[in-house]
Amino acid sequence: MRIDLLAGTVYHPLAMPPHVPTILVFDSGLGGLTVYSELVKARPDARFVYAADDAAFPYGRLSEAELVARVLAVMEMLVDTYAPEIAVIACNTASTLVLPHLRARFSIPFVGTVPAIKPGAARSASRMISVLATPGTVARDYTQDLVRTYARDCAVALVGSTRLAAMAEAELAGSPASDADILAEIAPCFCEAPDGRRTDTVVLACTHYPLLLHRLERLAPWPVTFVDPAPAIARRMVDLIGAPLIGHEGEEEACAVFTGTGASDRLKAALAARGFSRIDTGALALAVA
Ligand code: DGL
Repeated sequence: MRIDLLAGTVYHPLAMPPHVPTILVFDSGLGGLTVYSELVKARPDARFVYAADDAAFPYGRLSEAELVARVLAVMEMLVDTYAPEIAVIACNTASTLVLPHLRARFSIPFVGTVPAIKPGAARSASRMISVLATPGTVARDYTQDLVRTYARDCAVALVGSTRLAAMAEAELAGSPASDADILAEIAPCFCEAPDGRRTDTVVLACTHYPLLLHRLERLAPWPVTFVDPAPAIARRMVDLIGAPLIGHEGEEEACAVFTGTGASDRLKAALAARGFSRIDTGALALAVA
């Protein structure tokens, strides 16, 4: 792991063992794993709890009031059970709505995941960008504000996909969707202007979508840059809780917890391959209204 020698503090092996933070990573499903993999690179010494509210997946179909109530209820249980030092909401659909409610209710810091429209617009040469997200994220005032503030001089296509997050889950569970089905979801992102300019940047504004990145790149009608905000989220987390002490970079146990009971053996194997040594399904069983 690369360590910023200016930012880090050296840990002397004879000193008191350093504090090991517990970091909660939260999503409706497995999309947050794309954020988790950057977080764990930034703090390999930390204890991670990955929580998937799969009993309520997909969040994209919930009304705003239902989503706020649901995330607050699940977070209450997670904070009580795991006492995290920080929580990363690795879900655009939730972050674009629920962050102010979480910050008002709990005393720990929350890092959100919101559409990377600012960096997407900054890197676009054609000034044509697309934001690929859930229908919930596309409809949010928060997302519309980001477009007005950071992409005023771009043509922005907001594309709400109803099926892509489930296709990403299926990919991880070993039942990949067909090329034609994926292409149908991403096709509206690829726009051409009468003057010949084309979309050159697609912001992946649902954490599930980078799980399909290799397929999105292969199926894209022409090459574009797909923007994944995960590295920036990891930097924000380090800003808040600091870098690991140099000399203490050992890995702690990572645990994955599901609100539902349906994780297949295939999925458990995919999680084990990502370093999760404990997988609790149904551990936080919460009925969905
Ligand atoms: N991974 C989520 C996001 O970033 C949500 C997918 C869903 O539950 O609809 O938006």
